[in-house]
Amino acid sequence: MKKKIVFLTGAGMSVESGFKTFRGNDGLWENYPVEQVASHEGWEADPTLVTNFYNMLRRKLWQAEPNEGHRLIAALERDYDVSVLTQNVDNLHEKAGSTHVIHLHGELTKVCSSIDPYDERYIQQLTPEHSDVEPGTKAGDGSLLRPFIVFFGESVPMLEPAAREAMKADIFVIIGTSLNVYPAAGLVQYAPQGCPVYLIDPDPVFNAPNGKFTHIQKGASEGMKELCEKLGFKK
Ligand code: OAD
Repeated sequence: MKKKIVFLTGAGMSVESGFKTFRGNDGLWENYPVEQVASHEGWEADPTLVTNFYNMLRRKLWQAEPNEGHRLIAALERDYDVSVLTQNVDNLHEKAGSTHVIHLHGELTKVCSSIDPYDERYIQQLTPEHSDVEPGTKAGDGSLLRPFIVFFGESVPMLEPAAREAMKADIFVIIGTSLNVYPAAGLVQYAPQGCPVYLIDPDPVFNAPNGKFTHIQKGASEGMKELCEKLGFKK
């Protein structure tokens, strides 16, 4: 049976693909205040601004390519049972070929009902050809169509399936997250006792997990190369 590697990834995973992190930009995300574009209150206050922001981000996403870090995670599926638990709303893990990705904070390529974002009947998949949402567009249930994004102040329904994956980990790897945002940041605590934990981040991570872990102090691509060497994995 293949060993299981569980990855928990955050904004730093996609930096080398051209996306900005959340913290470290003076509270701005892609030049907008995080509260304005990524909170429940921000959405309620100005759905037009929020819709246009995600339209902009989605257009950027179609142009973006996975980096070597994303590609190595996907390549590991040859020898390992790989699960990716990501806080990122981009689709770069999937684009790199990862087949088991759990999006904790939603997906930029989808829009949904604002009454019940998880009602499958009203979730729409957008494409490069049909990417922008006209502000004011309604979902099938008559509510405003909103980005399929978990805003601050909302629950994280994918947490439970993610925790179940974490519990089965033989190896747990954290990449590019400041581990500031709960409940996602707590997922490493579900890893079995004694499971080796790696942290790939070019900077010191102040909220680093409790217990023993190996910090590979590099960016996602170089860090993944080093991890693969440590695992004896050749692409
Ligand atoms: P942060 O911006 O808090 O943290 C990004 C981390 O990436 C930092 O620790 C950086 O040092 C690291 N980093 C920077 N460049 C890197 C590189 N080239 N390779 C690897 N790591 C690098 O982002 P998150 O922890 O992902 O939530 O933020 C968590 C959540 O807060 C997001 O999912 C989002 C946000 O508000 C929602 O949208 C609900």
